Amino acid sequence: MATTILVTGGAGYIGSHTCKLLHAEGYIPVTMDNLVYGHESSVKWGPLVKGDINDPILLDKVFKRYSPAAVIHFAAFAYVGESVAEPEKYYQNNVGATLTLLGAMRRNGCSHIVFSSSCATYGLPDSLPISETHAQNPINPYGRSKLMVEQILRDYDQAYGVKSVALRYFNAAGADMDGEVGEDHTPETHLIPLTIYAALGLQPHIRVFGTDYDTEDGTAVRDYVHVADLAEAHVQSLKFLAHRQTGLEINLGTGRGCSVMEIIKEVQQLSSVEFPVILEQRRQGDPPILVAATGKAKQLLGWQPSRSDRHTIISSAWNWHIRRHGRLVP
Ligand SMILES: NC(=O)c1ccc[n+]([C@@H]2O[C@H](COP(=O)([O-])OP(=O)(O)OC[C@H]3O[C@@H](n4cnc5c(N)ncnc54)[C@H](O)[C@@H]3O)[C@@H](O)[C@H]2O)c1
Repeated sequence: MATTILVTGGAGYIGSHTCKLLHAEGYIPVTMDNLVYGHESSVKWGPLVKGDINDPILLDKVFKRYSPAAVIHFAAFAYVGESVAEPEKYYQNNVGATLTLLGAMRRNGCSHIVFSSSCATYGLPDSLPISETHAQNPINPYGRSKLMVEQILRDYDQAYGVKSVALRYFNAAGADMDGEVGEDHTPETHLIPLTIYAALGLQPHIRVFGTDYDTEDGTAVRDYVHVADLAEAHVQSLKFLAHRQTGLEINLGTGRGCSVMEIIKEVQQLSSVEFPVILEQRRQGDPPILVAATGKAKQLLGWQPSRSDRHTIISSAWNWHIRRHGRLVP
């Protein structure tokens, strides 16, 4: 019989891509999403329960009805700037609601969870590439909310035997290779979709924050991972939990950095549109370089990204946006 997985936030960007892969691998992904940011139209590979994970009664109904073998927990708020202005909202949704979810898991005998953590838990790195043993000193409430959940998961493992894999994503990017789902955040704050919007004429320009970093072209460097590669790491984490019965924290990145300017040039080349690029001052709190050490994911999950080169990421994202918006620029 097919194994059911409860996917919180499955109507969102990374969640929907993961549901597609879960379905392809023979699992039944049950999405639970309040659709605050997610899209009903992105839930194509299993049932959707519309609701909030902070609702223990609804959670109990879902666990009773579907008996999931494990939870993949994407549901969270993820706007760093907003988390600084409204920390309560972030601690409530990212930490408080996770406690509600963990309570329902315990009541219903579900003891495996894969959690969406973030490289934001490291804060400003003092060595590169960033390994899992690097100190975690997040510099905003969003990053702190993710670190708190990691700590809660370790305590729940010790006390209650709840086993978890916390996946510390670097920058999720790209879209489904068949164009069935893609990145659709409102508001959008991520560089690649914003640059594509500039190429499509949906934005007047792209703004670059900081051109005097100690990097090859002076712009900030990040580690972009294709969302389909991220999806694979979730399935591999489920398999790990099923067989190894132990908790883990793991980076998901490529180990290679890509600068803001390299992204912009790639989009200009692909689109043949020379949209305006506005150079701005650095933003406070933006580290110059964030690149993951990747050995642990390879060693323990057998995970290696295969679509996370710059061209594949940007062309898949481009194809998805073209499909959605049509090509608006002459
Ligand atoms: N996108 C990235 O680059 C990135 C990087 C690091 C970590 N993450 C983490 O990965 C996860 C998924 O990110 P994403 O980019 O897919 O975000 P997303 O906003 O597209 O997806 C999150 C989904 O969770 C839902 N949700 C939020 N709170 C909920 C609640 N209380 N109950 C039910 N549903 C709720 C939203 O409606 C949305 O569909 C988040 O936890 C995020 O913090 C993302």
